[in-house]
Amino acid sequence: KGYFTYDPGFVSTASCESKITYIDGEAGVLLHRGYPIEQLAEHSDFLETCFLLLNGELPNPQEKEEFVNIITNHTMVNEAMARFFRGFHHNAHPMSMMCGAVGAMASFYHDYLDITNPEHRAISAHRLIAKMPTLAAMCYKHSQGQPFMYPNNKLSYSENFLHMMFGTPCDDPEVSPTLARAMDKIFLLHADHEQNASTSTVRLAGSSGANPFACIASGITALWGPAHGGANEAVLNMLAEIGDVSNIDKFVAKAKDKNDPFRLMGFGHRVYKNFDPRAKVMKATCDEVLAELGLDNDPLLAVAKRLEEIALEDPYFIEKKLYPNVDFYSGIIMKAIGIPTEMFTVIFATGRTVGWIAHWAEMISGSYKIGRPRQLYTGYDKRDFPA
Ligand code: CMC
Repeated sequence: KGYFTYDPGFVSTASCESKITYIDGEAGVLLHRGYPIEQLAEHSDFLETCFLLLNGELPNPQEKEEFVNIITNHTMVNEAMARFFRGFHHNAHPMSMMCGAVGAMASFYHDYLDITNPEHRAISAHRLIAKMPTLAAMCYKHSQGQPFMYPNNKLSYSENFLHMMFGTPCDDPEVSPTLARAMDKIFLLHADHEQNASTSTVRLAGSSGANPFACIASGITALWGPAHGGANEAVLNMLAEIGDVSNIDKFVAKAKDKNDPFRLMGFGHRVYKNFDPRAKVMKATCDEVLAELGLDNDPLLAVAKRLEEIALEDPYFIEKKLYPNVDFYSGIIMKAIGIPTEMFTVIFATGRTVGWIAHWAEMISGSYKIGRPRQLYTGYDKRDFPA
């Protein structure tokens, strides 16, 4: 009932116009502001890509230095956040803490939440990008019962994250440059991906005029699910469940069985039907990290490698165009670095924050309407309440 276009899952509906990111799923192309992701991964770094996504152009050297300084100056969170974290159960999933913590950040910045003011929008964007790694590491430290580590502003964005994750006041080891580079690449490759579920959620929340911290918190909730950002965590849980190369055939058969809900996590993508260009870069980084850490013979990674081969050979996966996606390789890298599985989606959220905020800012600074989808009603006709 109703005269609306019905498009469940939004497979053929454009919800907005955007100048930020272009994807050609058939050709495996991903461009940010026109620049191919492979070139950004090779020649740029995460913060430079953040500047590009937010401002539309690459920074010149002076702009880059200023941007890095601004982000670096905003890395600390209000000390009251430490007490906020102590309210969470020690076993809380880090994504549950992130949803709460990021929304709560709005409470510190009431004077900067006028979304019609470009300066307020910019400072909120900078605060969010700068503070996400700090909050992410606080989630981890809380779960470990360890003291929170303050950011060290002499370190780069990715080094700082690893320092806040793995350092303690007793022992704050130097961060390996290879691992910091791999972390930077993970953030960069997750920076934006046009109108995926979480970005669309951020836009929808933003279209009501909600403040940016609330909007990003809503993006985090949408990202949490295993069909979206939660896939990187699900990949590692799946590899652990498979356990050994000898069990793979059984799980592949389950994945192909229409009556079995099991899916191979880290395979397939709504938009990429040829290959995921981010996965190619991630795979190369994955090989580097495993070689540096001497983990080439890890049994879990042997399962991952065999699964990858099967997906490229098996007619089911070929016919349905199911290739390993970015989360397949990023999960393996993060496991090798020693990041616990529950933190994987938090790290995805940290990288994606710039994409969310760039889309939010693009919408707010242009003309937009509150998002208000319609429905096809399939319930009862009007009926009388029993007398
Ligand atoms: N394992 C086995 N079969 C699969 C898989 C899989 N991972 N993915 C899709 N299929 C099958 C599915 O059963 C369906 O078969 P049929 O045509 O016989 O009904 C067909 O392929 C099409 O699947 P779909 O669910 O209609 O495709 P979609 O575009 O709605 O879903 C997806 C895309 C990513 C949700 C899905 O491929 C999936 O669940 N993958 C596993 C989760 C995952 O890795 N997600 C991360 C995506 S990349 C990061 C991000 O963007 O967040």
